[in-house]
Amino acid sequence: MNPTPALKFALVTGASRETGLGREIARQLAQEGFRVILTARQLPAAETHAHALRAEGLDVVADALDVTDDASIAALRGRIEVAHGRLDVLINNAGGFYDADAQALTTDLWLAHQALELNLFGAWRMIQAFVPLLEKSPHPRIVNVGSAAGSFGDTTLGLAAHVQNVPIYSISKTALHALTVKLARELAPRRILLNVICPGFVASHPGLEKFGARPVPDGARCIVWGALLPDDGPTGGFYRDGKPLPW
Ligand SMILES: NC(=O)c1ccc[n+]([C@@H]2O[C@H](COP(=O)([O-])OP(=O)(O)OC[C@H]3O[C@@H](n4cnc5c(N)ncnc54)[C@H](OP(=O)(O)O)[C@@H]3O)[C@@H](O)[C@H]2O)c1
Repeated sequence: MNPTPALKFALVTGASRETGLGREIARQLAQEGFRVILTARQLPAAETHAHALRAEGLDVVADALDVTDDASIAALRGRIEVAHGRLDVLINNAGGFYDADAQALTTDLWLAHQALELNLFGAWRMIQAFVPLLEKSPHPRIVNVGSAAGSFGDTTLGLAAHVQNVPIYSISKTALHALTVKLARELAPRRILLNVICPGFVASHPGLEKFGARPVPDGARCIVWGALLPDDGPTGGFYRDGKPLPW
């Protein structure tokens, strides 16, 4: 079908949880005028959140997506192509395997493989699959949700300093950061801006605020920033709150 010029379409991965970043990113993008395709592995979870956001007057539709499953990605791409003809914004938010207090020396490498499947290859697969639809957008943007835990240069939360060590999580996010740099370079001639953004320590699970986590809307806002960049905005960078972070 021909792209609908009046509407803008944004796809958010990993929006299964009421207090998660994904749902709040979907809310904020819808508030910016996007029709948001809010996705989760389990369709009923996506439907619950889309329904709640529509009750706030927002344009949000639900769909199923497992970013580790090529067939699931291809099916979603097909549905979006038929329904909308293009995609304007892709937010690779799905992630996990936060292995607090684990040690790289002794950890289960099967878990490390699973983490890379989700945190690295999930975003990689999504970008490979959706670039053809993003190229049909006048202002295509991609955000990978990274983490200071994957930073070499962050002296408090980075690879050499994180208080909980989190070896699998950190290394998988470092790989995602590297992927962002490589792909941004390749996507620039296609006018697609791609950045990796760390939302900071966010209270996406109950009780985290007691440990200093910032409110979820604040973390989501700094990710949405990457979706709203002007055409001459940055690409291939690592940011939080619109400011560059050390790699
Ligand atoms: N919270 C923080 O302080 C913080 C800091 C830095 C970066 N981040 C990043 O922010 C992102 C969101 O995290 P969050 O804190 O909001 O936690 P979250 O709600 O647990 O978000 C992770 C989401 O990823 C989904 N997911 C897991 N495997 C998936 C798959 N195979 N396909 C599709 N979705 C899948 C989960 O869905 P299920 O319910 O189905 O498992 C969940 O909705 C993650 O990438 C995380 O690494 C968070």
